[in-house]
Amino acid sequence: MEAGYREELLAALRLQLEWGVDEALEAAPIDRFALRAPVMPPPPPVLATPAVPQAGRPVLPLVPPPAAAAAALAAAAQDLAALKSAIAEADSPLRETATNLVFSDGVAESGLMMIGEAPGADEDRLGRPFVGVSGQLLDRMLDSIGLKRSENFYLTNILPWRPPGNRTPTDAEITLFLPFLMRHIELVRPRHLVLLGGVSAKALLRAKDGITRLRGRWHQVETPAGPLPGLATLHPAYLLRTPSAKREAWADLVLLKRTITGDAAPQ
Ligand code: URA
Repeated sequence: MEAGYREELLAALRLQLEWGVDEALEAAPIDRFALRAPVMPPPPPVLATPAVPQAGRPVLPLVPPPAAAAAALAAAAQDLAALKSAIAEADSPLRETATNLVFSDGVAESGLMMIGEAPGADEDRLGRPFVGVSGQLLDRMLDSIGLKRSENFYLTNILPWRPPGNRTPTDAEITLFLPFLMRHIELVRPRHLVLLGGVSAKALLRAKDGITRLRGRWHQVETPAGPLPGLATLHPAYLLRTPSAKREAWADLVLLKRTITGDAAPQ
């Protein structure tokens, strides 16, 4: 190996460490030296479908795309335990880097289902959603309107696996796991949904607006269990970073409490 090239790679590695990179994003190591070797022309592809469509015959891929496979696995799950196993089976690079599947917590029969973004490091370690600092804040906020995790609500996330380094979920990851979440909602049949943060609100409302525009009101969420009222609100992790936003979060909590106790109709 040329000494100059090795120095360049070591300098890049040192820089990454200084910037706080502490995880490899790939499930398997990549030999980047080998990538510099002369590239042989690839073998001709083995086509799953005829290169030229036959007259009158639709061209169908033999292997279903991952989201279609996920939808089939999700649809076959007849209860929450089966759904959890189906998620564990679904092929995803996130599964390779995470430690534990994070499925749900709280009371499924409570009628109130809260949907966050994705597990963080604490959730990944313990296999339960919202158990880190943002989860503790969420519990305190809900406790202030008389709602307890052990009795009054149920929690899950858009993604069941922790994205490496807590990065924001990609659109492809959300698309892959959305059929599982939809089946989750269908099996739990909540009366109300709470969408915690922008990732959850955008994914479930198919909205382009950010959370500051979406929050503070009830939306109609299209689910396989029919349209359900969903309140978009700020994510507790955002409130930890931006304490001044707690005023808005409090207004959302008051609206939630008034609605679930029947004082205010979802609008
Ligand atoms: N943030 C989330 O969105 N979900 C969790 O489970 C934890 C932190």
